Amino acid sequence: MNADELRSKFTAFFVEHGHARIEGKSLIPENDPTVLFTTAGMHPLVPYLLGEPHPAGNRLVDYQKCIRTGDIDSVGDPSHLTFFEMLGNWSLGDYFKEGAIEMSFEFLTSPKWLGIPVKKLGVSVFAGDGEVERDDESARVWKKLGIDENRIAYLPREDNWWGPAGSTGPCGPDSEMFYYTGEEPCGPGCKPGCSCGKWLEIWNDVFMQYNKNEAGEYIPLSRKCVDTGMGIERTVTILNGKSSVYDTEIFASLIAAVCASSGSALVYGANPENDRSIRIICDHIRSAAFILGDPKAVNPSNVGAGYVLRRLIRRAVRHGRKLGVESLIPVCRAVIEKFSPAYPELQANSASITEELNAEEKRFLETLQKGEHEFEKLLPNLLKDPRKIMSGRLAFKLYDTYGFPIELSEELAAENGMTVNRGEFDEAFKKHQELSRLQSGEQFKGGLVDQGEMAVKYHTATHLLQKALRLVLGDHVAQRGSNITAERMRFDFSHGEPMTAEQILKVEELVNGAIKADYPVTVSMMELEQAKSSGATALFGEKYESTVKVYTIGGESGYFSKEVCGGPHVEHTGVLGRFSIKKEQSSSAGVRRIRAVLE
Ligand code: ALA
Repeated sequence: MNADELRSKFTAFFVEHGHARIEGKSLIPENDPTVLFTTAGMHPLVPYLLGEPHPAGNRLVDYQKCIRTGDIDSVGDPSHLTFFEMLGNWSLGDYFKEGAIEMSFEFLTSPKWLGIPVKKLGVSVFAGDGEVERDDESARVWKKLGIDENRIAYLPREDNWWGPAGSTGPCGPDSEMFYYTGEEPCGPGCKPGCSCGKWLEIWNDVFMQYNKNEAGEYIPLSRKCVDTGMGIERTVTILNGKSSVYDTEIFASLIAAVCASSGSALVYGANPENDRSIRIICDHIRSAAFILGDPKAVNPSNVGAGYVLRRLIRRAVRHGRKLGVESLIPVCRAVIEKFSPAYPELQANSASITEELNAEEKRFLETLQKGEHEFEKLLPNLLKDPRKIMSGRLAFKLYDTYGFPIELSEELAAENGMTVNRGEFDEAFKKHQELSRLQSGEQFKGGLVDQGEMAVKYHTATHLLQKALRLVLGDHVAQRGSNITAERMRFDFSHGEPMTAEQILKVEELVNGAIKADYPVTVSMMELEQAKSSGATALFGEKYESTVKVYTIGGESGYFSKEVCGGPHVEHTGVLGRFSIKKEQSSSAGVRRIRAVLE
């Protein structure tokens, strides 16, 4: 079974079970300051998990592109990835534990679907603790379906609790499904979590029962939800009896492109050190192509998501150089070709993806030459240190002056039998970050997709702002991103030049006028095409379902703003307070950024 087949089987199964197929969303989260990338399939659905009605209904299925960079340093081994795809089915107040587990079991074991023998499966459920009781209900359903008691592991919160990713948000116990990768379980007590290490997780059913609030309390949700996640890469690996994700068809054409681009006769599988580099290149260029090809693409930079992108590309370039790979563009083209059928945005943006990658490769090669030269100059002195530790301040200087990434200082140091004092580097780096944050007046606070009162007000304010900008600057203005905390909003939009002081004033006046008019905010559901022809603005490049929610702000005589949006919003604009623009600046080529507050 390949990834395309798994994607279609999963969706077909859940559509047969009454789920609406929805589109996966952007890799760059909207309105969420706590994470740089979409890290799970549930992420774009948080507002709906917390109670917003979803236009497509209460049973949903999709596949979502995700990036997690927490384990970036482990990429290179057979299993770690920074980019992955997650299949998910959702119940928004519809079925709960029993329904979810029954469907999971059927999809995994029925010969019509994955046809995994029951004896190969094990599950885990939440063991309970002082705060929440043991999940006996899930265990009962598994047993009823034929999972032996011996194959059910009761595991603690570290293992069987999901969310919230930030400090607040929807969460609950989960039940994970595991596949035994050996011949026979190693003994009668062998179950998920066993030290034989042969149980691999393939799917996770999360039972969202609570919302964790800012006080750290678990408030039961009035509408319980199910969120599930099945990792495509891992499942394809297991179903094909492979021991590494990189040995599946998912990576075959990428690996071939790396080998073909090397000046030497490079073969995957011939040398563990080279294999590690090949895997790093494939993973990192896949992530980079998806970030650059996203409708809300960020470009390489020294902050936030842009820094992650830069780091991915630069690490790949360095490993490419080790293998004699001159350019990573052929690997990038292989990514575009392989994944465009499932993610057409890659093909649509292929020119800008390769251009940006090429430019960053060039910039980095210059940096590398300078940085390596500096490092070599420092080396004789460094080697004199009997502890073989390179000072973190020095590594920071290389970073600050030459843009030489810390990971590369660490790698070069390791190649010379040394380590870098990372604590010291991190401290210098943090100081530097705090400084630039103070300079930009930016503060990051808030929970996972903050749904507090202030965040909701700011969300409504973005609609007023977008409309005011279009009135003042013209209809070419389109939202390119937004980021909201309880203290401020940031709004990126397409516009080629700085705004004048007069234009800024005019925009403020229009927004404050709309607040003063105390317009009602109403929501209706309609077909996407109908929404667009009725004049509603939609997010640039975002994928939508055929039925969408449209928020209208305005009185009876005509509306002020109309946008396709998931919500939530305030009920009338009078509650927003006074809107004030604090800063207007460039964000990237052709995109301006406004920082504003409600006072
Ligand atoms: N949100 C759950 C996960 O990512 C399904 O594992």
